Amino acid sequence: MLCDILSICALASAAAATTGDHSSRGQKADVVKRDVCIIGGGSSGTYSAVRLQQMNKTVAVVERNNRLGGHVNTYVNPATNQTFDYGVIFWKNTTVVTDYFAYLDVPLARSPLVSPAIPAYADFANASRVSADALATGNLTAGFEAYLAQLAKYPYLTTGFDLPDPVPEDLLLPFGDFVRKYDLGAIAFTISLYNQGMGNILAQPTLYVLKYFPASTAISAFTDSFVTTARHNNQELYDKALEKLGSSVFLDSNVIRIKRYHDCVEVLTSTPTGPQIIHASALLVTVPPELASVGFLDTDGVEQSLLGQFNSSYYWDTILEGSGIPDNVSLTNIDPQAPYGVPAMPGIYIFGYVGMPGLHTVYYSSPHPLSDAAVKADILAQAAALVQSLGYKPPVNGSPTFVGLNAHNPFELTVSTEAIRKGFYGRFGGLQGRRRTWWTGAAWQAQDSSAIWDFTERVVLPQLVAAC
Ligand SMILES: Cc1cc2nc3c(=O)[nH]c(=O)nc-3n(C[C@H](O)[C@H](O)[C@H](O)COP(=O)(O)OP(=O)(O)OC[C@H]3O[C@@H](n4cnc5c(N)ncnc54)[C@H](O)[C@@H]3O)c2cc1C
Ligand SMILES: *[C@@H]1O[C@H](CO)[C@@H](O)[C@H](O)[C@H]1NC(C)=O
Ligand SMILES: *[C@@H]1O[C@H](CO)[C@@H](O)[C@H](O)[C@H]1NC(C)=O
Ligand SMILES: *[C@@H]1O[C@H](CO)[C@@H](O)[C@H](O)[C@H]1NC(C)=O
Ligand SMILES: *[C@@H]1O[C@H](CO)[C@@H](O)[C@H](O)[C@H]1NC(C)=O
Ligand SMILES: *[C@@H]1O[C@H](CO)[C@@H](O)[C@H](O)[C@H]1NC(C)=O
Ligand SMILES: *[C@@H]1O[C@H](CO)[C@@H](O)[C@H](O)[C@H]1NC(C)=O
Ligand SMILES: *[C@@H]1O[C@H](CO)[C@@H](O)[C@H](O)[C@H]1NC(C)=O
Repeated sequence: MLCDILSICALASAAAATTGDHSSRGQKADVVKRDVCIIGGGSSGTYSAVRLQQMNKTVAVVERNNRLGGHVNTYVNPATNQTFDYGVIFWKNTTVVTDYFAYLDVPLARSPLVSPAIPAYADFANASRVSADALATGNLTAGFEAYLAQLAKYPYLTTGFDLPDPVPEDLLLPFGDFVRKYDLGAIAFTISLYNQGMGNILAQPTLYVLKYFPASTAISAFTDSFVTTARHNNQELYDKALEKLGSSVFLDSNVIRIKRYHDCVEVLTSTPTGPQIIHASALLVTVPPELASVGFLDTDGVEQSLLGQFNSSYYWDTILEGSGIPDNVSLTNIDPQAPYGVPAMPGIYIFGYVGMPGLHTVYYSSPHPLSDAAVKADILAQAAALVQSLGYKPPVNGSPTFVGLNAHNPFELTVSTEAIRKGFYGRFGGLQGRRRTWWTGAAWQAQDSSAIWDFTERVVLPQLVAAC
């Protein structure tokens, strides 16, 4: 049941309606009452909304994009309507995943890792071809076993950041040092491709690499058992969710500000049809919780001191048409001089095979902010240099074009090893339920939708349901 809305909320909404942003000025705000107001309709926000609705809670979801789905990007070929995914691609075959897809009536199929593409390798920094055995740095199976043996030391990493005190020093080593210490060189490059978007992965604290590539992912990778949508259209999951949630979702909507009171929260947003006020018993924040991304929130000193510590890396997915790289080639960036072949970022991971004429996906990461224009320029320059030096036929119709480009930023949220050592994550976890606010999403678990849904299911939803 909806908690009693104090009259203070009504007073506040009257004030909000007259002091809204420019687009809503002068318009009277609509008011709805819901059990839970969810900020962000990506992976964790949509999952939470669907599950809460299943549990008979009323929700409102505020999403700034014109669709649900967050990091999902589904390309639709305009000539044929054929689709493929180049954002979120696969999930793990777990009960949380299969129950969710079954409920939304979206069929799953195995997502085989081996593509029909011809693999090719180059050092993108100087556009020189690299032979496939540049990566033959040891026994992959043995490396995988050694990695799993390390993970087995930290069972608490599976769900959330429930770290012991003191935090084991191995988790705070730069990942490159951890790889050297435990002789994991055989799988370091593979992990760098799974954990895309972390900037320079060998410099990142080991904790974040282990969270992003947990045992469930390693085993799915080595047994080739990931699942994806049978129709190669991951957006379908989110479109079905939108149908179920109906008018509970506010798309194309920006949060202007949120005020939290003793027993209710008030969310003021601008929607395409004017200002909207949402009164709720509880708030669920699913956007990246770095301070700059939650400027709409009436943060207090405790929240500011925690959320202000996040740093992040940056990640782009793009589709390039007409590069001159043959359709059936998948071209991977390897730096044979660098430890484990892992190239320095900013840079490209791969020109990926997609199975449609003229198209390759291109994935790009940076440890620091870059404009989309700079990313595009770098991709075009590297594509041209590679096509020339690898002897491919240069594009005939002028310059290649981007038919997809999405900046997924800020991507991986991290804090310093000093902060982790001093108990950052204990205090961060203490934000759950404080000021009628709950939190979920990648910063609370990892860049891993299956694991985020599992964390949300086990940790966040029981508390939310009990509170409303
Ligand atoms: C290219 C790419 C490929 C990936 N591939 C996989 C994969 O194959 N398998 C896998 O498990 N994981 C994959 N991931 C990781 C996974 O998708 C993410 O970890 C997951 O989407 C994170 O969920 P989230 O809810 O924290 O954030 P998001 O899914 O990003 O959701 C946040 C939502 O909040 C919205 N938003 C942000 N700010 C505001 C605001 N102020 N007001 C309103 N709305 C706002 C955003 O538009 C977004 O919809 C991939 C990620 C990327 C970028
Ligand atoms: C939700 O409501 C429906 C219809 O009233 C009921 O059948 C169902 O048991 C309820 N579910 C929960 C989890 O309370
Ligand atoms: C593609 O889908 C759209 C919308 O569903 C439809 O109008 C169009 O005719 C389809 N085009 C092809 C080539 O099938
Ligand atoms: C998921 O795993 C189950 C066995 O646990 C299997 O029967 C099913 O086929 C798998 N699903 C897919 C889509 O591969
Ligand atoms: C690789 O390691 C596995 C597991 O330790 C072992 O069974 C296998 O014999 C090794 N292969 C080679 C070629 O050494
Ligand atoms: C790959 O494509 C090229 C033309 O772009 C063709 O000559 C070659 O036979 C193809 N190779 C395979 C294995 O399909
Ligand atoms: C490219 O750089 C590598 C070192 O990273 C070097 O070994 C190689 O000779 C260079 N190739 C060219 C063509 O410059
Ligand atoms: C954030 O990370 C980048 C890249 O690792 C680094 O250059 C920068 O100093 C970091 N910023 C903070 C505030 O720690």
